[in-house]
Order: sequence, then C-alpha cells, then structure tokens
Amino acid sequence: MPKTTISVIKADVGSFPGHSRTHPKLLEKAAKMLKEQEGKLLIDSFVTHCGDDLELIMTHTRGEDNEEVHKLAWDVFLECTKIAKSMKLYGAGQDLLADAFSGNVKGMGPGVAEMEFEERGSDPVLIFMADKTEPGAWNFFLYKIFADPFNTAGLVIDPSMHTGFIFEVHDVINKRRITFKTPEETYTLLSYIGACSRYVIKYVWRKDGIIAASTSTQRLNIMAGRYVGKDDPVMIVRAQSGLPSVGEVIEPFCTPIIVAGWMRGSHHGPFMPVGVCDANMTRFDGPPRAICLGFQVCNGKLIGPADMFDDVGFDRVRERCNELADIIRDQGPFEPHRLSLEEMEYTTLPGIEKQFRSRWEPIPE
Ligand code: F6R
Ligand code: MG
Ligand code: MG
Repeated sequence: MPKTTISVIKADVGSFPGHSRTHPKLLEKAAKMLKEQEGKLLIDSFVTHCGDDLELIMTHTRGEDNEEVHKLAWDVFLECTKIAKSMKLYGAGQDLLADAFSGNVKGMGPGVAEMEFEERGSDPVLIFMADKTEPGAWNFFLYKIFADPFNTAGLVIDPSMHTGFIFEVHDVINKRRITFKTPEETYTLLSYIGACSRYVIKYVWRKDGIIAASTSTQRLNIMAGRYVGKDDPVMIVRAQSGLPSVGEVIEPFCTPIIVAGWMRGSHHGPFMPVGVCDANMTRFDGPPRAICLGFQVCNGKLIGPADMFDDVGFDRVRERCNELADIIRDQGPFEPHRLSLEEMEYTTLPGIEKQFRSRWEPIPE
C-alpha cells in the first residue's frame, strides 16, 4: 500500500459581505474541480470554508509539495477568483500574490499544511481551519495536545506515548528552523512558541518518527510586503492508537485563548471554536474562529466529515469567548486590544505615520 498524503490548501479569493464568508458558488466550483480529479490526481477531496477562506482538503499518493497537486489548488483558486470577480465579491483574488504558478503554491499566497503517512489499521485525522488569526495561533493547542499531561492523559498512562514528542519550530521572520524534544526540552520550547507571531510549530512527530501534526506557516503580510489580510492557518492532526485521542486533541479548545488577528488583522481577541454553520465572521469582523472536521482515512478515502465543534460541549467556551470579546472590545483602539506597534508594522498603520511624518518636530532639550 503506498503512503497516503493529505494536503490542505487554502486561500481567500473573495467573500461576501466584506470579509465575512465564502460564497456557495465558489464552494461548488471548487468541489466540482476537485471531484473531477478523483481517481486521477487525487484519491478523495472535501471542500469547505472558514469565514472568507476557501479550504481544499485533498488526499493522494504523491507526497508533500507535489507540483501537480499544488497546480490543481492554484487553478481552483484562479477559477473561483473569476467567479468572485464576476459577482464583485469582496477581495476577489486577494490571497493570490503571484500572476503565474511556479511549481509550488508556497510563497504565492495560499496557506498549506500537508502530511504523508503510512495508514495504520484505523487512522482518525482531524483538520482544523481558522479565520481572522495567524499561524502561531495553533502553538498553544499543539503544546497542550502533545506535551501537557494535564490535557493529554495518554502522555502519563499510555506506554506508546510516554517517551514524548518532537516539535519542529519555524522562525517565520528569520526563516530558520529547529526541533525540540518534550518532555526534556519543554521549557526551551515554550520560551520560543509563546511568541506566536514569530515562532510557529510546523510539525509534531512521536519520538519513533510517526508524524502526528502538520500546520500552515505562511505569513501573508511578510510575503507580500504590504497588508493583505491575516494568514488564517490550517492544521492536520492524527489521533488515537499511541497518539493523543480525538478527545484529547480537541480538549484544549475549551480554553478561550486570546490570539492576534480579528479586525484589520490588528487586534487581539478570543479564539472561538465553532461548528461549520457558525464559521462566518460577524462581530467586528470576527471574533477569530476555528472549525474542526474529523475523518477516518481509509486507503486515502476520507470517511466523514464529523463537525467536531458543533457540540454543546463547546457552548461554555463560546460563552467565555463572547465575554472576553465584550471586555477587550471596550478598549477600542488601545493596546493590548490593538496589537503592539511592532506587529502593526505588518498592517496598514505605517500609512498613517507616512501621512503625518512631516508634522512631527524635535522636542527642545
Ligand atoms: C481581517 C480582515 C478584515 C479587513 C477589514 C477592512 O483579516 O480581513 O477585518 O481587514 O474588513 O478591510 P478593507 O481594508 O478591505 O476595507
Ligand atoms: Mg478576505
Ligand atoms: Mg480569512
């Protein structure tokens, strides 16, 4: 049996109204284009959206970074952009930073998380997709899932997980990477990944080499050199049989953490787990949200999805997120609701400084 690859590739190519949600016509077009490739380039596919991001979930046997698979995703985004433009949807084609495909969608605007693995006897996979936040938003959850025994009971009581995991961390500003082992290097790992805007967990492996998680690390604003919306990350996590269970993987989302993104990609706000029916951005263009679709992978076929956060078990964290949203919104344009000046460099704020630079004068000694 060849190895199975899951590729999750996403882009915002237009939405309605404003940056709120993807239009059904785009979802239909994307689903149709991927279906046509099933049995050819792809084994299976599923299309959904989180807010204004069109999410392509594809399975195949061609490994990560495959040119044809990436080209297919790029073509889907181009075709959907055409539809978005014909309806004057908002931000049509906004995440497509390049004019022509050049071998790999990475660096061209779309976000990419991929994972190649040998299927186990039964292989549950959870796909997380977020809108109005940045790739580092997953750091907290990945740490809790794979390194926190107070979250993941299996770290303590399952012998196959007891030795811990390996985290690959990317410095998205200086383009370098490093791996840390847990539990032995936990404190060092935390000293980096706590700075989510710069250090992003890319992969997690079990110590015997089994791949457990993969995320998208693309930062649009840094790639484009100007503000073009937030990066709205995706993540693939495998579960069960010597990996954290499905319940252990989604448990950390019961904590209402504060992430960067939200309005104009420039505000901190609560990260709310929601069902797909609620994956539409409303209040203050948010609040930042995550959805999670669960599948069993069977010879590359996606059995599912199960809409994991569409459940009363997550009602309380949603309530707490709404409370936090009320509290932090009251601060209006003041930090720390608004991002720090350093992070605002990647937004439209420098445009204001440019307009007013000439009016500043030195303070007399
Ligand atoms: C955040 C986002 C929105 C827009 C905001 C302003 O990622 O997409 O909050 O930044 O709606 O959009 P423009 O500048 O296009 O009017
Ligand atoms: Mg948008
Ligand atoms: Mg988005």
